[in-house]
Amino acid sequence: MKNEAAKKKVLIVEDDKSTQLLYSKVFSTDLFESKYDEDGETALATYASWKPDLIVLDMMLPVMTGFSVLKKIRKDFHDTTTPIVVSTSLAGKEDIIECSQQGIQGYIIKPFNFKELRKKFSAFAPQLETLPQDDATAAETDSSQKEKPQNTLKKYLSSYSAGNMGKEEMCVKIMKAVDFDQLDLPSLPDIVFKINEAITNTETTYKDIAELLATDQGISATLINLSNSPFYRGVSQCVTVEDAIMRVGLKETLEVVSVITNRSLYALIDPRFENHLADLFRHSVACGVASRVIAEHLHFDNVSLYFTLGVLHDLGKLLLIRVFSELFEKEEQMSADSLMDIVNSLHNTLGAKLIKKIGFPDLFANVAQKHEKLDQKFSNFEKELPLIIVANLYTKKFGYGHLQDDIDVLETTAAIYLHVNDSVEAKIQKGIAQYFKMLGVVT
Ligand SMILES: [Fe+2]
Ligand SMILES: [Fe+2]
Repeated sequence: MKNEAAKKKVLIVEDDKSTQLLYSKVFSTDLFESKYDEDGETALATYASWKPDLIVLDMMLPVMTGFSVLKKIRKDFHDTTTPIVVSTSLAGKEDIIECSQQGIQGYIIKPFNFKELRKKFSAFAPQLETLPQDDATAAETDSSQKEKPQNTLKKYLSSYSAGNMGKEEMCVKIMKAVDFDQLDLPSLPDIVFKINEAITNTETTYKDIAELLATDQGISATLINLSNSPFYRGVSQCVTVEDAIMRVGLKETLEVVSVITNRSLYALIDPRFENHLADLFRHSVACGVASRVIAEHLHFDNVSLYFTLGVLHDLGKLLLIRVFSELFEKEEQMSADSLMDIVNSLHNTLGAKLIKKIGFPDLFANVAQKHEKLDQKFSNFEKELPLIIVANLYTKKFGYGHLQDDIDVLETTAAIYLHVNDSVEAKIQKGIAQYFKMLGVVT
């Protein structure tokens, strides 16, 4: 047992539980005395009373942002020496420049893993170098001949397909592997994050979007094509991205771009999944349209956000399919159908984790996790989750997926909570059909 006084005091300001868990593995109680705060204001109070030796500060925090906490410590408390390492998602990496101007000793970009954290923080605590390589499978395999994580996962799945492991057990094992960063996640193109950010920002202008899209020639070309399609019936030919955005409309541009970028993720890989992926793409886009139509029908603000949430609600499935198809060679025994069975039962819990890991906001993870919970209770003013639940059901009902016979959409808790009535149904059907007609020019 080490002398408590000799331990470094680390204040970790992080509101995401799974990230906290990861920090707790790095800042173990053997070597550190650590405190966890989940919002900026509480963290500032802890800082003032506890005087930590090191602060790990997330940027996106409730109540007061990480940036404000940093500024207060450096300016109001005149503390320029306590080391502060900021953590941010890929979408917020521009924050780092501003943070550097305030004075930080380092930064880490989410998603990160145990190894990266240990390396980053060993500059502040050399004893971290001696920590063993932690991982989820260490306890189950002989550490001297540790298997590659991909192989471990493959072993779980094969054991499941051979009937030697129940589905529940296998799901738990896979989730454990994900918790401990054992999976190589497919990466999303950077533009997905940027577009997502632009869509959620209500102050986005034509110019911002045009500049953003100019970085991706494929998208620019598709958009110009679309603006010149019969669907938009222009009198003159659009030749620039700006022209195209003006004609198609800002909101529609954002939607189309989000669909196009999303579709690029479906460009795969393994022919066994081709049909499943095509179905999933149609289901996702239809759900995006249904979500937007319902949001408009209910006079909600920021309808494009609902569109994006709808398009991405099953992102967990897509990511899982990609992970699985990379794991299995074409000649392997595991059929696409049995893998899809696993994908379906894991896509909520695991999907939410994966979505967080690739840096999407918590709102997306929440929708990914709970969109199939028909008994879900909603907190006051919660709009996004109930709306996506209803949109997902209607999407299935109208032929983009499979709706269980015994489900009456209007009788679900979410539909009752939102006061949705059957007058929205025709609008959804029409909206989806129109959207697919329009997409015909880009698919
Ligand atoms: Fe789903
Ligand atoms: Fe779905």
